[in-house]
Amino acid sequence: MSEIILSIRGLHKEYGTGVKALKSVDLDIRKGEIFALLGPNGAGKTTLINIICGIVTASGGEVLVEGKNWQTDYRHARARIGLVPQELTTDAFEPVSRTVAFSRGLFGKPRDDARIEELLKRLSLWDKRKTIMMHLSGGMKRRVMIAKALSHEPSILFLDEPTAGVDVELRRDMWDLVRQLRSDRTTVILTTHYIEEAEEMADRVGVISRGELIAVDEKQALMARLGKKTLKIMLVEPLETIPPELSEWNLALEDDGHQLCYQFDSHAERTGIASLMRRLSDLGIAYKDLATHQSSLEDIFVELVHGERASA
Ligand SMILES: Nc1ncnc2c1ncn2[C@@H]1O[C@H](COP(=O)(O)OP(=O)(O)OP(=O)(O)O)[C@@H](O)[C@H]1O
Ligand SMILES: [Mg+2]
Repeated sequence: MSEIILSIRGLHKEYGTGVKALKSVDLDIRKGEIFALLGPNGAGKTTLINIICGIVTASGGEVLVEGKNWQTDYRHARARIGLVPQELTTDAFEPVSRTVAFSRGLFGKPRDDARIEELLKRLSLWDKRKTIMMHLSGGMKRRVMIAKALSHEPSILFLDEPTAGVDVELRRDMWDLVRQLRSDRTTVILTTHYIEEAEEMADRVGVISRGELIAVDEKQALMARLGKKTLKIMLVEPLETIPPELSEWNLALEDDGHQLCYQFDSHAERTGIASLMRRLSDLGIAYKDLATHQSSLEDIFVELVHGERASA
């Protein structure tokens, strides 16, 4: 799985408005992998994808698709890449099957009814093949967009927010589809806000924040970091300092000494909570409330950016 299918070097983008949407991004995508790009709104995910797909012009840097420059070998890149954009645009009055078949033709591929039939069946669109686009639900339209993007048999598929605003069922279908694509050795790069989604589907995850790719990791490694939780212990009497008897838990004192915070790994076999509570009781430190807090993606960003927290 180490053959590099897509290589991004020093890619940056400053929009006409002066917004620096990407700041020198380097990234290698392996053939056949599912790569999830995670990041908050405005992080630069769509900009990155749109540059690779030739929809937005880069301010600098380069992209190699199977080793060929994506601008000088534009036709090569275009034939290899399929894109399901974040914003759905559809040909309102065309029936589903014609929309998909037409898309294939745009890439100079010969007509292939069997291929289109297979694709529509796979996306549960076969029953809707004669329905005009306007009459489809949003979720169905999204499926058609995927069928269009796959119509010319690309080797790299970009899915920009494939499950934003879709129901649970369609989200599951989408995950199944991505897994199917993986078994065909199609490389998939998707963007998402949902950790859960990256966890379900991705082999590797890239975290992008303010135009910078701040982490690229195997999913397992990143998820381990995402498994961090914080236990907040609200004390009856405030503490001035953390007693040395509690040093092994690496606690933090917050809220003017009214709150002890303990960070633990929720995936670990032993979280250390039980022993901590026993020790508190031994020391006669009384508490009135407890709360746990799961690290959010934002927390992880902060952590990644500052590289602060030591791994517990
Ligand atoms: N056409 C444009 N002109 C000017 N600025 C833009 C344009 N498109 C995007 N931007 C800005 O570039 C930054 C990155 O936007 P981008 O759409 O790439 O983010 P994103 O990660 O895809 O966000 P979202 O999760 O909301 O889809 C944002 O600050 C955005 O406002
Ligand atoms: Mg976007």
